[in-house]
Amino acid sequence: MKITVIGAGYVGLVTAACFAELGNHVLCAKKTEKNLENLKKGISPIFEPGLEEILQRNIDENRLHFTTNIKDAFNFSDVIFVCVGTPQSETGEADLSQVEEVSREVAQNMDGYKLIIEKSTVPVNTHNWIEKTIMRYRSDAVDFDVASNPEFLREGSAVMDFMNPDRIVVGVKSEKARSIFEELYKPLTEQGIQIIFVSPASAELIKHASNSFLAMKISYINMIGDLCEKVGVDIKSVAEGIGSDMRIGNQFFDAGIGYGGSCFPKDVKAFIKIGENHGLDFKLLKATEDINFKCRENFLEKIENILWINKNKNIVIWGLAFKANTDDIREAPSMDIIKRLSNKGANLKLYDPQASKNFQKYFPEAESITYFNDKYEAVKQADALIILTDWEEFKEADLKLVKDLMRIPIIIDGRNIYNKEDIKDFEYYGVGRNR
Ligand code: UGA
Repeated sequence: MKITVIGAGYVGLVTAACFAELGNHVLCAKKTEKNLENLKKGISPIFEPGLEEILQRNIDENRLHFTTNIKDAFNFSDVIFVCVGTPQSETGEADLSQVEEVSREVAQNMDGYKLIIEKSTVPVNTHNWIEKTIMRYRSDAVDFDVASNPEFLREGSAVMDFMNPDRIVVGVKSEKARSIFEELYKPLTEQGIQIIFVSPASAELIKHASNSFLAMKISYINMIGDLCEKVGVDIKSVAEGIGSDMRIGNQFFDAGIGYGGSCFPKDVKAFIKIGENHGLDFKLLKATEDINFKCRENFLEKIENILWINKNKNIVIWGLAFKANTDDIREAPSMDIIKRLSNKGANLKLYDPQASKNFQKYFPEAESITYFNDKYEAVKQADALIILTDWEEFKEADLKLVKDLMRIPIIIDGRNIYNKEDIKDFEYYGVGRNR
């Protein structure tokens, strides 16, 4: 099939590359020339495992192209995935101006039937606005469908998630649109993956409700973690015990310094606003946000209680990204934590396998902030090692070497990546764990 993808951000790029990988011909349109030449060569502006490989393969095999010409993009195919940004506005609601702009552009450039598919995360009933906008900006009667096909990709495993989803959610109104989706996802449904067909409004709602649920689950286990710490019980064993009930499940049940990233914080806020706009008070989600914020506060308090004075201490941070396997630092807990430690006069030594470059834009190298390319170099003469991201290479680190290199062997682990046996030679503190 031929597919147009509007937007070459995180979602657009993964969607375009993965649909090409499934054998389709894909034209991905972006607004500006920024990164365009690199994209045409298969060079990804974001770090995402496996992405560059499939970009390159599909460009080489002539199935994937990039353009800034929006007219060409709409002419290329009848199936248009809208993957533009829906950032948080000042009020907490999603800013839908880019979605509206694309709707107008579709109206002005349509030359026959089009299926317009929302992939970006949008508030429930946005599809009605897209429909209305297309009809307003198009005087003649045109045949089109608006559908919702939300993405459930996690940064760091987006390609895997696209190719092996738990489910595909599709919101459609017409049989025509439904059969296009059946064709589009055939390579996946043939492997037993299920498409759940619902109305467009349901699909839009499923996306916000799913992300909010996962955020709530994380805050729940962090709440229990607080109690564990007070009563001297290890949250890891408690989470395992609770999560082994299949009805609860142990995924997204790791206590720590809370969730960050470009999705959960924004989507929980937007969902609270959606409730408010319909006269509902989503107290559960407000508590989810509060707990998440408290996680960072508690962790900072913990650091201060353990180290007493931070000033002039060599504090090493392993992990700046909001989660492992990404270079993304948006809403990362590390931002707040490092800001506070820096204000307290700590001598910060920072290491992350991928995210240092992005982090330096906010925290440039200075007398008291040094970036390292090697995690062991960073810990030399350290007064404490703080873990903020659960990268695999930290879990597998040579802790004997770490201990020998540090001045004082203290580990404060914001992601609970170590087991008690691994760190018996350290003064070790986790989150929700007795030391
Ligand atoms: C999230 C969802 O998981 C995806 O399904 C969704 O498609 C995506 O948002 C989106 O809306 O685009 P993502 O933000 O990339 O994906 O990353 P997650 O793996 O969900 O992690 C989010 C945050 O929660 C991270 O800071 C992570 O460290 C934290 N987390 C996750 C925990 O603190 N504990 C856990 O048990 C799991």
